[in-house]
Amino acid sequence: MVQVWNPNGKYRVVSTKPMPGTRWINLLIEQDCRVEICTRQKTILSVEDIIALIGDKCDGVIGQLTEDWGETLFSALSRAGGKAFSNMAVGYNNVDVKAANKYGVAVGNTPGVLTETTAELAASLSLSAARRIVEADEFMRAGLYDGWLPNLFVGNLLKGQTVGVIGAGRIGSAYARMMVEGFKMNLIYYDLYQATRLEKFVTAYAEFLKANGEQPVTWKRAASMDEVLREADVISLHPILDKTTYHLVNKERLAIMKKEAILVNCSRGPVIDEVALVEHLKQNPMFRVGLDVFEDEPYMKPGLADLKNAVVVPHIASASKWTREGMATLAALNVLGKIKGYPVWSDPNRIEPFLNENVPPPAASPSIVNSKALGLPVSKL
Ligand code: DGY
Repeated sequence: MVQVWNPNGKYRVVSTKPMPGTRWINLLIEQDCRVEICTRQKTILSVEDIIALIGDKCDGVIGQLTEDWGETLFSALSRAGGKAFSNMAVGYNNVDVKAANKYGVAVGNTPGVLTETTAELAASLSLSAARRIVEADEFMRAGLYDGWLPNLFVGNLLKGQTVGVIGAGRIGSAYARMMVEGFKMNLIYYDLYQATRLEKFVTAYAEFLKANGEQPVTWKRAASMDEVLREADVISLHPILDKTTYHLVNKERLAIMKKEAILVNCSRGPVIDEVALVEHLKQNPMFRVGLDVFEDEPYMKPGLADLKNAVVVPHIASASKWTREGMATLAALNVLGKIKGYPVWSDPNRIEPFLNENVPPPAASPSIVNSKALGLPVSKL
């Protein structure tokens, strides 16, 4: 149940799951690590399972967003001499960073490499919901198609409608660009910070369209989240999950959205009150959702699976080969960097040098979220 690479390596690094690609393994073994990969056929490992994997001596762990990294695991890792943990994910709401700080354990994540891949899934869900792709596919496979009909699977046209983005960070902005450029949608966004680059992009694209005799697109930075919910036809959620964003979309907020709106969530499940959503979908058959994440993952709230106006996929937003291999590489390098005493990369958004397979990666940890709290040095590269 554990696969061992480079058994005589000096540093013991555990990965709680097999991860895509082999580069991450090679990078670790080239630097004198013994790599142990848990190959158990159990999707979600418990805290006890992971304590057993950590054992008496462990220098670092690469883990997954399904695991509960809190006081118990960080103290176990620290007792085993471990100094580094990395999530193979950009989100780290499964990690108690304060507990990691207490034990001096560096916590890594994998930003940058999944931006476009995740935005592409949000765009796919938007299209699938708008054009009822899954319903139509099921209909075909059930042998129900007996000829073209004017009313068959009529959906929503995106062109000229408004796309709303809540949280216009890296992924939200990439999604907004895809929808604006790809489908000529107008943009309304809500974020505490001004998305200057995104605004400039939409302005320039509007000028281009105008110069070509086409209707220009528009953008607006909303003063509140409710303004986006009220005005947009397609809304994609991109906040981080914390106390302030738990059930951000609740019964009251669903009620202010357009009856034929589309809601997409590729962030974290608890951002939506899923029970309220199921009820809203039942009451409003023209309202549609595209969901990659769920409140009680891996479960769906009762009733959701029966609803035709919901497209549901199993948390696969970052699941492109390039991205998943890159995430594994970044997670491994986060752990390796701390073990080797390397500094932390100065800009976690500029991770390309770590992903270039033709040259050795920089001697740095690509992204350590508690580097300031631990007083880790920053790379000058
Ligand atoms: C993340 O990285 O946080 C995603 O949810 C998994 O790809």
